[in-house]
Amino acid sequence: MNVVKRCVVAATLGLVMSGLAACSPEAPEPTGCTGACNLASLGRARGIRIGAAVTANRLPDADYAAAVAGHFTAVTPEFDMKWRAIHPTPTSWNWDAAERIVTFAEQHDLSVRGHALVWGKASTNPDWLLAITDPAEFRSAVLDSIAVEVGHFAGRIDRWDVVNEPFLSDAAGLDPNVFHQRIGADYVDVAFHAAHAADPTAELWLNEATLERGHSRANAFVAFVASMVQRGVPIHGVGIQTHLISGNPLQPGVLGSVVSRLRALGLKVAITEMDVPTGSTRPASEQIAAYRQAADECFAAGCEEFTTWGVSDGATWLDLPATRAAMPELASFAIPSNPLLLDAAFRPKPAYAAVADALWARPLLT
Ligand code: G3I
Repeated sequence: MNVVKRCVVAATLGLVMSGLAACSPEAPEPTGCTGACNLASLGRARGIRIGAAVTANRLPDADYAAAVAGHFTAVTPEFDMKWRAIHPTPTSWNWDAAERIVTFAEQHDLSVRGHALVWGKASTNPDWLLAITDPAEFRSAVLDSIAVEVGHFAGRIDRWDVVNEPFLSDAAGLDPNVFHQRIGADYVDVAFHAAHAADPTAELWLNEATLERGHSRANAFVAFVASMVQRGVPIHGVGIQTHLISGNPLQPGVLGSVVSRLRALGLKVAITEMDVPTGSTRPASEQIAAYRQAADECFAAGCEEFTTWGVSDGATWLDLPATRAAMPELASFAIPSNPLLLDAAFRPKPAYAAVADALWARPLLT
């Protein structure tokens, strides 16, 4: 009995909860699941968004567009909504690329995660903003930019990564980035209130890296988020990026525990940027296991979204020369690092089937 029939039969016979309804193909080849094990279909039936980071310049590629529309139910602009790209001068907005992504999403019943209104990483901010030294002028520029961008997409983008990576990259505590320096330690709160004023119906998310490690930095981050909730900041969700690029395997139960603690604050939680590069130190079998573990733990703890940072292995930030130059720690991973769920020909890989299996095990929407 082929994979699809087994999935359907198992669902019919209720074997799914017994774990007998594995959707994974027996063969390790990247055939993946089809039909009943399509990620978009599985996610829609269970109320779990399945997303991918996309770029406007790749949407004219028919295979790319078909993969986005066929396998996913949500998209995140990888860089087309970053401040440097969308608001390049004080008086000009470059809506074209972002509009192409949002329009594509609307045409294919995909939701859009706006990414990101505020990020301290200097290379993502325009020179004109970084040149503002007067605190009041800088604050005004930030408030104006948030108001205009969120207002422009009001009703079309239902959730925003308001602030990305507010913490120091390798330690607990707020990164003393330019927003922190010019506006103050409350810049995160300020950004969230500004976004809420611009679109009171939008969900406002805080997005951070390495929380899946559950280390002291993650604990400090959960405490920081709790303080935002305590202050009445309009925060609705936390994104756990889940770039497994340190080589450390996911410790069993740790991601799930972080998700549970954030959910206990009344917040939504999502995996927002997962990728799992492979190489001599990480065979494909470990990638498959990591995707399955992350999905299982996240869904079981109440995640409502699972997004990978890219559509297919053919285009990943992890293989860019600029990335490898900036991040020598990636040297242990091959190029191509094949970090995603679809291979370079947009075919589902065993990692895709692993996420499909995790979804398959979740209860259907009633
Ligand atoms: O499109 C321009 C091109 O016209 C120009 O010639 C070229 C050289 O300057 O730059 C191109 O833009 C680059 C863009 O990626 C497209 O490749 C930007 O310089 C470069 O900074 C940008 O990098 C992105 C990075 O965020 C910074 O925005 C990566 O694609 C993107 O994958 C990465 O994504 C981040 C998330 O937003 C937050 N979490 C971490 C994640 C990985 O760093």
